[in-house]
Amino acid sequence: MKITSAEFLKSAFERRHWPLEARREVAFLGRSNVGKSSLLNSLLQRKALARTSNTPGRTQSINFFLINAKYPIATAPATDKSGFYFVDLPGYGYAKVSKSMRADWGKMAEEYLSDRERLALCIQLVDSRHKPSPLDLQLHEWLTFNEKRHIVVATKSDKLSSSELSKQLRLIGAEMPESKVIPYSSQTGKGRDVVWSEIAATLA
Ligand code: GTP
Ligand code: MG
Repeated sequence: MKITSAEFLKSAFERRHWPLEARREVAFLGRSNVGKSSLLNSLLQRKALARTSNTPGRTQSINFFLINAKYPIATAPATDKSGFYFVDLPGYGYAKVSKSMRADWGKMAEEYLSDRERLALCIQLVDSRHKPSPLDLQLHEWLTFNEKRHIVVATKSDKLSSSELSKQLRLIGAEMPESKVIPYSSQTGKGRDVVWSEIAATLA
């Protein structure tokens, strides 16, 4: 897919901040620090559209990015519905945030995932170096059970040798047998075409 524009729209801390315009949405989900914001930037070939950081748990809101709209956000007519949204969800499983913050994550993300009708595709990220965590598997089962269209992206593949990577992909595939697992590196761009073709097929 050709990217003609990509703009940060807003951070939503509550449901009433979700965009009203009926565009389809592609959501990025995964443990804190797994590389969601980096994947989003890498897909868009933009260095810092989504903020990345070494501090896990940095993204605490649901962040909306408008992709391939006909007009810049500032000048778009209210009736314009062109383009689609990338939605960067806060990461889960970060032990150091407070209990109430963790509860907020669950509430906010689950509310978004279960209620958002225009959600076209969920991209679940797992770290290619590790076995999926119990929370990864819980989310994965939830997506499968609720029949949400989804793919799994195994991030940070540049940190493994090719034999280690194939071994890890088999392991992840065995834990998530219903899903397509795509190895990715935000550093090298490995996997970009494959992920884009999945997104394009969903939005077509
Ligand atoms: P939260 O917003 O806290 O949930 O994290 P996130 O999932 O958005 O992770 P983020 O993209 O901020 O990346 C976390 C760290 O991992 C950063 O230091 C990135 O540079 C690094 N990282 C992400 N993807 C890759 C990758 O493919 N390869 C390598 N080597 N590092 C990566
Ligand atoms: Mg992030």
